[in-house]
Amino acid sequence: MAIAREAAELLVAHKPATVLTGAGVSVDSGVPDFRSPGGIWEEFEPDEYATAEALAFDPDKSWAFFAALFDLLRTIRPNEAHRAIADLEGLGVVRSVVTQNIDGLHQAAGNRDVIEYHGGPALLCIGCGAAVAGLTPTQLEAARLGTAPRHSCGAVIRPAVVLFGEEIPPEAMRRSLEAVQASHSLLVVGTSAQVWPAAGLPQLAAQQGSPVIEINLEETPISRYAALSIRGRAGEVLPEIVWQVRRMLGR
Ligand code: APR
Repeated sequence: MAIAREAAELLVAHKPATVLTGAGVSVDSGVPDFRSPGGIWEEFEPDEYATAEALAFDPDKSWAFFAALFDLLRTIRPNEAHRAIADLEGLGVVRSVVTQNIDGLHQAAGNRDVIEYHGGPALLCIGCGAAVAGLTPTQLEAARLGTAPRHSCGAVIRPAVVLFGEEIPPEAMRRSLEAVQASHSLLVVGTSAQVWPAAGLPQLAAQQGSPVIEINLEETPISRYAALSIRGRAGEVLPEIVWQVRRMLGR
């Protein structure tokens, strides 16, 4: 694939790269994305389940969504795309991964600097802020059936994911800006770039003169200004890029 060679050339000439990923990188692990046909938002309307207000006013309802998400995350494994991104870090081409996903698959694949831009599945109490180690099977089953789990202080437990209407965790924001600024290219994989401020990171990279390389099944707002925009499956394109990078670096 000539385009994979072009991507590899850009990455080798402009290393290190930061990688920005979205739900598309995990589709081959069996996690549907959000906005494609059959995506998660078709079953769970975001305004009803995934906003700060929805959680505050009807936590039982939000938990039906969280429980479905947790059920999905329990069984999944990294796919070829995650493994290729970890390989690129091993080859010294990738510095950091900024992910909008909460599935932990980049860490499982072996990437060491992973910034969870939209938080993660760790649990905490909304009332007293205590970290909660996990849910009992009874709590999880009740959540599936529409009863939010509660902490011993009586308040509702929530996952530390960023809901619509909530701020990006300041540490994730700071580290991701730092990663983009310290990198010389940005590889964007499997995001529709509809959600801000994550969608601003590729713009920041382009403004500082770092080539943006996009891999997506479809065109996105990033495609217009990307140095290279590749239409394809992340799990097929990324291993080809790794192969080309290895060839160029003689490793
Ligand atoms: N390879 C490459 N791209 C893919 C693949 C694949 N195998 N499968 C799907 N895609 C693309 C889709 O074409 C789409 O453009 O991935 C993109 C996924 O976009 P979204 O579903 O909008 O997911 P994402 O961009 O991660 O959403 C951002 O929005 O809903 C919130 O907080 C949620 O983190 C999420 C954020």
